[in-house]
Amino acid sequence: MGPDFFGEIDPPQRLLMGPGPVNAHPRVLRAMSADLLGQFDPEMTTYMNEVMALYRPIFDTQNQWTFLIDGTSRAAIEASLISLVTPGDSVLVVDFGRFGLLLREIVERIGGVVVTVSAEWGEVVPLEAIAAAARQHEPRVIACVHGDTSTTMAQPLDGIGALAQEVGAFFYVDATATLSGMPLPTDALGVDIMTAGLQKCLGGPSGSAPITISDRAAEAIFARRHVEKGLRRDDLANSHGARIGSNYFDLAMIMDYWSDKRLNHHTEATSMLYAARECARVALAEGLEQRFARHALAGQAVTAGLRAMGLTVFGDDAHRMTNVTGVYIPDGIDDLCVRRRMREDFEIEIGTSFGPLVGKIWRIGAMGYNARKHKVLLTLGALEACLRAEGLVLPAGAGVDAALAVYHA
Ligand SMILES: Cc1ncc(COP(=O)(O)O)c(C=O)c1O
Repeated sequence: MGPDFFGEIDPPQRLLMGPGPVNAHPRVLRAMSADLLGQFDPEMTTYMNEVMALYRPIFDTQNQWTFLIDGTSRAAIEASLISLVTPGDSVLVVDFGRFGLLLREIVERIGGVVVTVSAEWGEVVPLEAIAAAARQHEPRVIACVHGDTSTTMAQPLDGIGALAQEVGAFFYVDATATLSGMPLPTDALGVDIMTAGLQKCLGGPSGSAPITISDRAAEAIFARRHVEKGLRRDDLANSHGARIGSNYFDLAMIMDYWSDKRLNHHTEATSMLYAARECARVALAEGLEQRFARHALAGQAVTAGLRAMGLTVFGDDAHRMTNVTGVYIPDGIDDLCVRRRMREDFEIEIGTSFGPLVGKIWRIGAMGYNARKHKVLLTLGALEACLRAEGLVLPAGAGVDAALAVYHA
């Protein structure tokens, strides 16, 4: 077996129009191929500081503690929850889909006591229900997903921050799927920790998770500082709070690493940091308002196109994410056959969902680099052809025409 047995990596040019990951912006891929640096090289620490500066406007925050967790989006979710929650603390989880269930699961593993306010998949949780549960249980943390890609719903966040203040809780938001695609003003919403990933609206690869942390949350986390034995230093005194139950996800050490103290916690994922930096530069150069509008327009075009094809869009119209749209798989149509035709004939990926929605809906994403007119039109045209090939009778061209009309309105 020679060294070339498997050949060079040469993936097909697939258009990723599912719920994420999406195709990365070419500038991001180029940035990732830049040469590596040692993590305490002054050029590298300058890049780290630039990343902090670039993500403050992305999160619309003044938070000093705005940086990256090395890992996929759930790395930042887990780091946030394990650094805030000690075993026995109660956490109120706003649950309206698979990723609300993930929050519950993570809190349970930490030993937190989960209280849940739930909605049916396809709906969001009313603020009154969250308020009633928060006032009754006075949790340490209120944890909520913003856009839950499993159901394509976006939970309204207005009022939850004030509620958290009222009951003395920290407010955590998982914005993996919506950051830089839908408005998420961290400070105005009263969010204490917000986390994300690159592989959705930020238009990068998965593997780096932006995070922002309020001063009051940072203070509570530093109250649990226990620096790893081999790294102890006089200027980083340990605190009396309970030691954080993970080394890798210990936000106190990670903040010391991103601060000018440069605690040598982990080896920075340099190429991912380059990617995250370029994602933010691309987003800010476009302008966040323009970016939100581009995602909203793509979402409207997808929705109009699907409806014009005679398909039924999934979920509560009033609370739909702009960047991922769910649509019922028509009766008698085989999910896998259609997705295989999409992939094999058109090089386009769309997704189904999870749990009660697996095989019942498809999810079509138009986000980041892919929230563009021609990609939306190609996807709708391809879906129509695949459905027709599977025997569904459809009005010819209606989906593409309706989407075009949205773009030309
Ligand atoms: C809302 C939400 N949260 C969390 C995740 C988990 O992200 P990752 O797979 O990057 O860990 C996803 C992934 O799709 C998501 O959509």
